[in-house]
Amino acid sequence: MNVFISKEDIEKKIDELAFKISSEHPDGLIAIGVLKGAWVFMADLIRRLTCPVYIDFIKVSSYKGKETTGEISLSFSPSIPIYKKNVLIIEDIVDTGITLSYLKEYFKSKVPESLKFCCLLDKPERRKREFIPDYIGFTIPDKFVVGYGLDCNEEYRNLPYIAVIE
Ligand code: IMP
Ligand code: MG
Repeated sequence: MNVFISKEDIEKKIDELAFKISSEHPDGLIAIGVLKGAWVFMADLIRRLTCPVYIDFIKVSSYKGKETTGEISLSFSPSIPIYKKNVLIIEDIVDTGITLSYLKEYFKSKVPESLKFCCLLDKPERRKREFIPDYIGFTIPDKFVVGYGLDCNEEYRNLPYIAVIE
C-alpha cells in the first residue's frame, strides 16, 4: 500500500508530542487509551513520556466498516479511579467528533483534576460535533486511513505506517 505518513514521520511527531505532554504534566497523569485503534500509538507515546504514568483503557465503537453509525457503545470501562487526577485520553483519530464528545462528557462526570485529549490524526472537515483535541499529531484531509493501529473491518492494524484506502 502507498505510504501516506511514514514510520519515521510518526516517530518524530510522537517525540514532539511526548515532550509537550511530559512538560505540561510534571506531576504525572493517567493515560487512557481508546480501544482498539489507539493502542499502537499509545504504546509508543507512553514509552517516551518522562513524567509518571498510569495506564488504563476504554473500549467504544461507532464504526461498521468505513461508515460511522453515529451511535456509541461502551464495552469496557477503565478501572483506575480518576477523581481529582490528571487524565489524558489517547485516541487514534478524530473524525465526526461523536466519539470524543461522548467521552468528554463521560470522563468529566467523574470529576478529574484535568482532562486532556491527544489524537494522532485529526480530520476536521468531517466534524458533526465540535471537538478540538489538546494535542494533535497530524491534521489530514477527508480520506479513510489505515495502519499503525487503525483498521478497515479489522484489517491493516499492523502496518507500521499510515496508508489511505481508496
Ligand atoms: P468519530 O466518532 O467519527 O470522531 O470517530 C472516531 C473513530 O472512528 C476513531 O476512533 C476510529 O476508530 C474511527 N475512524 C474514523 N476515521 C477513520 C479512518 O480514516 N480510518 C480508520 N478508522 C477511522
Ligand atoms: Mg478509535
